[in-house]
Amino acid sequence: PLRRLRSARAERLVAAATAVGAGAVVVATALVRDGAVLAAQRTRPPALAGRWELAGGRVEAGEAEEDAVVRECREELGCAVSPTGRVGTDLLIDAGVLRVHAAVLVDGSAPTALEHAGLRWVGPAELEAVDWVDADRAVLPDLRALLGPS
Ligand code: CDP
Repeated sequence: PLRRLRSARAERLVAAATAVGAGAVVVATALVRDGAVLAAQRTRPPALAGRWELAGGRVEAGEAEEDAVVRECREELGCAVSPTGRVGTDLLIDAGVLRVHAAVLVDGSAPTALEHAGLRWVGPAELEAVDWVDADRAVLPDLRALLGPS
């Protein structure tokens, strides 16, 4: 089940649930270049293999979300990124809470599929047609706003 959390109260509930181990904070990266966002094709678990996501993963204990974004992009995409701010609201997922951060490539850096089946740059007109994993599909209105008109 997917719910959008908007209020400060909801934010505190997520923080409390996370603190007692009810779930992890997962960051996902809306990596933007030339008006397109990077989609990465999952290889696991079998139920999600072949579907597309924003690269990311669990934030480690004591790690800042922005640092997790930089680390996950280095690990999964082999590239250097610079986070530029949050996108959308918190999304409840089975693993905990998903928070999307926009990012740009550091000059000269380019992503490679080190842990994914493939990568593609998705422009605003193609966003809807991609077979996104459920949580990431919920971010599409915010990604559209981030990318601007097609
Ligand atoms: O690499 P790590 O195991 O930390 O993370 P992951 O397995 O890629 O993601 C942790 C959880 O977040 C999984 O349940 C993913 O399905 C979910 N996730 C998501 O819904 N959307 C993303 N863009 C990234 C992760």
